[in-house]
Amino acid sequence: MRRKVIAGNWKMNMLPNEAMEFIEKLAPQVKDTDNEVILCVPYIDLFYSLLNVQETNIKIGAQNMHFKESGAYTGEVSGKMLKSIGVEYVIIGHSERRQYFAETDETVNKKIKAAFENGLKPIVCVGETLEQREEGKTKEIITKQTELALEGLTPEQVQNTIIAYEPIWAIGTGKTATAEDANNSIKSIRDKICQIYGQKIANGVIIQYGGSVKGENAKELFEMSDIDGGLVGGASLKPDEFAKIVNYDK
Ligand code: PGA
Repeated sequence: MRRKVIAGNWKMNMLPNEAMEFIEKLAPQVKDTDNEVILCVPYIDLFYSLLNVQETNIKIGAQNMHFKESGAYTGEVSGKMLKSIGVEYVIIGHSERRQYFAETDETVNKKIKAAFENGLKPIVCVGETLEQREEGKTKEIITKQTELALEGLTPEQVQNTIIAYEPIWAIGTGKTATAEDANNSIKSIRDKICQIYGQKIANGVIIQYGGSVKGENAKELFEMSDIDGGLVGGASLKPDEFAKIVNYDK
């Protein structure tokens, strides 16, 4: 049985004091869950958040990293740096980074490798645009993105990669893929992993759904056979709402 992993993606929101307050409110509400709870916070909040999640079951992730360890890359943060303060997870290849910051399948692949080299667990985002969907290309796009993201990883690394299927048209729009639709897309990603790495690895990989997940639709989505939790943007900014999502099975 795969575990459910529910990760918040705060994007460019929350000041350190707000992050600390958020964690104080969230922690008691999620302490009894069996689901994995992750908050992916802005760099500036990482250290404060890590201090405040001590003695809780909340894990902390970053939202991006550079693939080099160090060097003349003004404004960048490396996997080694994230690891040094105790960060566990890192989102890689979010569609907003692909769209606005020139992230490519190639840099995504390099970043995933660098994340593993530094002992970080990557949450890798894939997803189709509305145009690609309307052209009937969803499956082709998301399986190709997955294949290129995972290229050259060991089977063990593939098994430890979290994939977030996030249809771009559903992000921040209030539009959610139907549970069946999201499940089918996720199945096609799992099938691709099976084709390349075999059934055992494919059965173990956590694949989340992301795109307008809220308290009221989490249960329907997360109860589907292949959806292993969610990557949550807007609804992860309110502790009570995020707790509802984490506790969808209570
Ligand atoms: P949303 O964002 O939940 O606000 O749609 C999801 C994401 O971008 O990860």
